[in-house]
Amino acid sequence: MDDWLIYRGQGQPDPERIGRLPDPPRWRRFSGEPLPIEAPPIDHSSTRRLGTRAPLPIQDDEALQLINAALYLRRPLLVTGEPGSGKSTLAHAVAHELGLGRVLQWPIVSRSELRDGLYAYDAIGRLHDAQLSRERDPRHEGESEDGGGIGRYIRLGPLGTALLPGGRPRVLLIDELDKSDIDLPNDLLNVLEEGEFRIPELERIADRPGQRTVHVLDEDGRRVPVTEGRVTCHAFPFVVMTSNGERDFPAPLLRRCIHLKLEPPRNERLAALVQAHFGDGAAEDHHDLLESFTEGDHNGELRLTDQLLNAIFLTQFAAREDHVRREEIADLLMRPLDQRPQR
Ligand SMILES: Nc1ncnc2c1ncn2[C@@H]1O[C@H](COP(=O)(O)OP(=O)(O)OP(=O)(O)O)[C@@H](O)[C@H]1O
Ligand SMILES: [Mg+2]
Repeated sequence: MDDWLIYRGQGQPDPERIGRLPDPPRWRRFSGEPLPIEAPPIDHSSTRRLGTRAPLPIQDDEALQLINAALYLRRPLLVTGEPGSGKSTLAHAVAHELGLGRVLQWPIVSRSELRDGLYAYDAIGRLHDAQLSRERDPRHEGESEDGGGIGRYIRLGPLGTALLPGGRPRVLLIDELDKSDIDLPNDLLNVLEEGEFRIPELERIADRPGQRTVHVLDEDGRRVPVTEGRVTCHAFPFVVMTSNGERDFPAPLLRRCIHLKLEPPRNERLAALVQAHFGDGAAEDHHDLLESFTEGDHNGELRLTDQLLNAIFLTQFAAREDHVRREEIADLLMRPLDQRPQR
């Protein structure tokens, strides 16, 4: 019945499954000429968050369906939920299971602008280098025209790299979008609708000999070709935008995203998460801590998953046998952070 699910939340890598993803709907096809670039392998940032094993499905049914809807429809996934509900980790879980390689990450702050995500042009560095060359060799007129010049000073950001026309979707995490200023969500929307962006510094020189295609650096530190200053995606990236839900996003953005509200992990999802980090049987060994962690739910107390993970880690050393001490340490580390509305 659930054969259509490409991502299954099982935690076991199955890189073949992404090959079974059907073609995008007509309105989400993009014209980028595919380049032979593959994502680098998954890095420490993902394995650190995911732990070493995932014996049980970590996402519930609804979440699984929405994640897959975003994959099929080539739409960004907007994930909201309380702190610690697993929003940021979701992008890593998808990349890990579907073998999509290193997750590109763009942490948003109030000063973030669209351009930061797309590319950076180091005009001052270029000027400085040109001046140095002239001092060394006064006959030096400028850069060679083989396209190697300006490209060294342009570096694609996480969004720019995600839009490179690779054969498989890259995973891009735009983390904490709610921290942005008011314009960013709308600016972002345009780029994600079109699946492309331009680099005016390269467009301007595209008609000079040898400058039609320029190699620039990407977020993975590789040199990739950009033709006529335009980057158009081929396989649309799997974009996860997270928000603590403190903010109302513009309606056009909400309409064009798949919206997933993540509940904080409880019961078997919490047990699965603990076992992912501490191994089989860990949820039973530490069931007292799991219980006191979830107890506060009834009183509207807010505790983060990371507090539970910290408490379990520490009590393994500090109070293996001593139950009273164990409780003390757990209380100390799992103090409620805040009160939330009672359920
Ligand atoms: N699928 C998973 N497998 C293993 N661990 C997970 C999984 N999902 C979440 N976790 C763990 O739960 C904790 C909280 O997850 P995460 O940081 O993704 O939450 P968040 O919703 O992004 O929180 P915040 O709003 O504070 O950024 C992390 O320590 C992470 O390692
Ligand atoms: Mg997060």
